[in-house]
Amino acid sequence: MPDIPSYRLFESPQSASRAVADDISQLIRSRDNKGKNTVLGLATGNTPIELYEELIRLHRAGLSFRNVVTFNLDEYIGIDREHCESYWQFMHSRLFNHIDITPENIHLPDGMVCADDIESHCSTYEKQIKEAGGIDLQVLGIGRNGHIGFNEPGASPDLATHVTQLNEVTISDAAAAFGGPDNVPQYAITMGVKTILAAQRITLLAFGSSKADIVKRALTPGITAEVPATYLQSHHNTTFFLDQEAGEGLN
Ligand code: PGA
Repeated sequence: MPDIPSYRLFESPQSASRAVADDISQLIRSRDNKGKNTVLGLATGNTPIELYEELIRLHRAGLSFRNVVTFNLDEYIGIDREHCESYWQFMHSRLFNHIDITPENIHLPDGMVCADDIESHCSTYEKQIKEAGGIDLQVLGIGRNGHIGFNEPGASPDLATHVTQLNEVTISDAAAAFGGPDNVPQYAITMGVKTILAAQRITLLAFGSSKADIVKRALTPGITAEVPATYLQSHHNTTFFLDQEAGEGLN
């Protein structure tokens, strides 16, 4: 039986982001109290920007990230860290530079690893996740084509971290940021569906009417590789945090 993810509807992206930030803060504090690290899987894109702003606000109010370990979902291949569109750059400018996380606890795939080393880089990433104790909470966005991370339509549920080719919808959605579709990298390293589904809890955020159709499909029973977000129906602890617009197709 599929486990359809539950969902929560909020007035605005900001109120949804605040709820997710509060949830993350409680998780960190409760694990801190038990002397345990918190392992977060993190996402990039427009959707989590306000979540990161809220986490910075909570940090300024006293929340410490000293015992937090992070693993990002993905990174473009062929883009170095200093590139303004690299996910390394995004995460540092939007979150890491503003909190007390230990740099050694931050993990992102390296988009500049040479072709011969990519496979071992991906397996090392998986090993690091396992050695950290596995992901306690994975934050996800969703692409208009139903991708999660860069697991594009057709993605296998059996892959761990791997190299993937970006789909045309993903490229067109990234084109403005790169100054045209021809400048968008064609390949990326991404956690696989298998990696994502191994997280203890998954929190997917989606905002705006452009996400309403795909959110509805992801929450309609029926798992298909053509809509990778439907794989979340085989995870027992996933919640979608939606604003009114993204949830407009739901009852
Ligand atoms: P967005 O991307 O947050 O920029 O809409 C989400 C995604 O592609 O996963």
